[in-house]
Amino acid sequence: MLSVSLTRLQRRLVALSRFGGLLGGGVTRPAWSPQHEEARAWLITEMRGAGLATWVDPAGNTFGSLGATALASDRPAVLTGSHIDTVPEGGMLDGALGVIAGLECLEVLAETKTAHQRPLAVAAWTDEEGRYGSLFGSRAFCGKLDGASVVDMAAVDGERLADVMARAGFDARRAPEAKAPAGSVAAYVELHIEQGPRLEESGVQIGVVEAIVGVRRSRIVFRGQADHAGTTPMERRRDAFLAAADYALRAREHVVTRGTNRSVTNIGVVHVHPGASNIVPGRAELVHEMRDPDVAVLERLWQECRGLADSVARERQIAVDVVPMSATVPALAAPRVQASIEAACRSLGLTSQRMYSAAGHDAQNLAAITDMGMLFIPSKGGRSHRVDEMSDWDAIERGANTLLHTLLTLARA
Ligand code: GLV
Ligand code: MN
Ligand code: MN
Repeated sequence: MLSVSLTRLQRRLVALSRFGGLLGGGVTRPAWSPQHEEARAWLITEMRGAGLATWVDPAGNTFGSLGATALASDRPAVLTGSHIDTVPEGGMLDGALGVIAGLECLEVLAETKTAHQRPLAVAAWTDEEGRYGSLFGSRAFCGKLDGASVVDMAAVDGERLADVMARAGFDARRAPEAKAPAGSVAAYVELHIEQGPRLEESGVQIGVVEAIVGVRRSRIVFRGQADHAGTTPMERRRDAFLAAADYALRAREHVVTRGTNRSVTNIGVVHVHPGASNIVPGRAELVHEMRDPDVAVLERLWQECRGLADSVARERQIAVDVVPMSATVPALAAPRVQASIEAACRSLGLTSQRMYSAAGHDAQNLAAITDMGMLFIPSKGGRSHRVDEMSDWDAIERGANTLLHTLLTLARA
């Protein structure tokens, strides 16, 4: 039976992890950073070495293909892929696995001259982690990028997307031109680490994704009054940080008690201004994120948290602005892609279970233009978005072989 080379997978995953690799383990490789651009150049060289045709679109998505030199409406391709950007202090598998495994699958098919009716391509989507904009590259590819908003996009530290794209040789205004020709993608399937504990705890080898959560992010800015931290009587202070802290605790409680058992929330960015120990904070900014696979639940929670921010501000006599930052929509995997993954598992003798993805993925954008599916392998200890994120090499090999046979089924359909 056709199978991937674990040695080659290992070599490439380790090589990729060196771009932005941190002393002591882990990777910091944000989209468009010099480390990311070096990784992109390396990836293109590896793709060409594997016999693939390569191209990069105006949103920075990088493609390698077998049997086609571009995507075209009259020859729909089966697509796989993931991303090579990482979160700060992230791991070596989130995104990298899907790209490197996709490349490996195509290389095996090329080497063995295996027949496949449809062209096959692997994509590395730009800025999946959303430093500048959630799922940016796949959004552009799927025709969902608002051209007018691109020039204003910036990271939470203020770094502008247009500037970093220009540094990498891209024109941000042209990113929407990455839109795929209508009908050019026959199906999309992505291999990813689970990033949570469910597969490991149930002892199941492959997760077959049924749905992907939507993620909503907003910037919440409390504006109080800066004052001398020693001389201002306590009862006269209008402390923006305390409002932010109060909001953080109450919003968490609200989502836990009023959401579903799938609703989660996080505040991972906090800035206090001016940021000196002897000044009462005049301004506090939070980035508040919420997730749920049901768009109606997500919308309700978002509205309710907005009301909560107003209440907190009113009670503390300070002002608040709630600024929506991004909203990705939940997506369903296509039954035929799920069935192809399950058929691959059966033929490889692997156990599988259906599950929803609590992490966001480019696949949720692809669902708008084609039949989408994803498969997961267990993450050690359920750990991800941290430097010690890892999966067993056997699990990686199993995931890549499942991807290979799923791609073959889809490319013959
Ligand atoms: C992607 O990694 C996410 O934040 O879900
Ligand atoms: Mn991630
Ligand atoms: Mn990822």
